[in-house]
Amino acid sequence: MKMVVAYIRHEAFDPIREDLLEKGFPSLSITEVKGSGRQKGITEHYRGSSIAIHLRPKLKLECVVEDDDARTIVDVILKHARTGSVGDGKIFLLPVEDAVRIRTGEWGEEVLQAHPGVEVSA
Ligand SMILES: Nc1ncnc2c1ncn2[C@@H]1O[C@H](COP(=O)(O)OP(=O)(O)OP(=O)(O)O)[C@@H](O)[C@H]1O
Ligand SMILES: [Mg+2]
Repeated sequence: MKMVVAYIRHEAFDPIREDLLEKGFPSLSITEVKGSGRQKGITEHYRGSSIAIHLRPKLKLECVVEDDDARTIVDVILKHARTGSVGDGKIFLLPVEDAVRIRTGEWGEEVLQAHPGVEVSA
């Protein structure tokens, strides 16, 4: 299993979410974060003084999938999050040891995503 962790612009999330749902990946987590990339920060002006804004708001998307599905998730993120401008974000892939669905106590890949065509809610 792999965890795909992506730092993206807020605007990119809705189309990513929609596309992942269509492809059978409803399960994900989102956190509002602040971060910096290579550019470190920008300078804003407030009441006459210059303020270095070192941290920009981003969304952190986490999605755990079977190894073979990681590429699909990355491709969806690239498709919707890439504008070609600096600050588009980054994607990291992390190995995941195991997974447990709390409701049933089951372990392993069974607890992961629904598959295309499967009804999902909540
Ligand atoms: N190495 C990293 N570790 C953790 N978070 C990162 C890392 N690089 C980027 N991020 C997160 O991704 C966000 C966007 O980064 P950003 O796209 O600016 O990266 P970059 O390397 O500067 O690329 P670009 O030159 O395209 O802007 C950052 O604000 C931060 O939240
Ligand atoms: Mg940057």
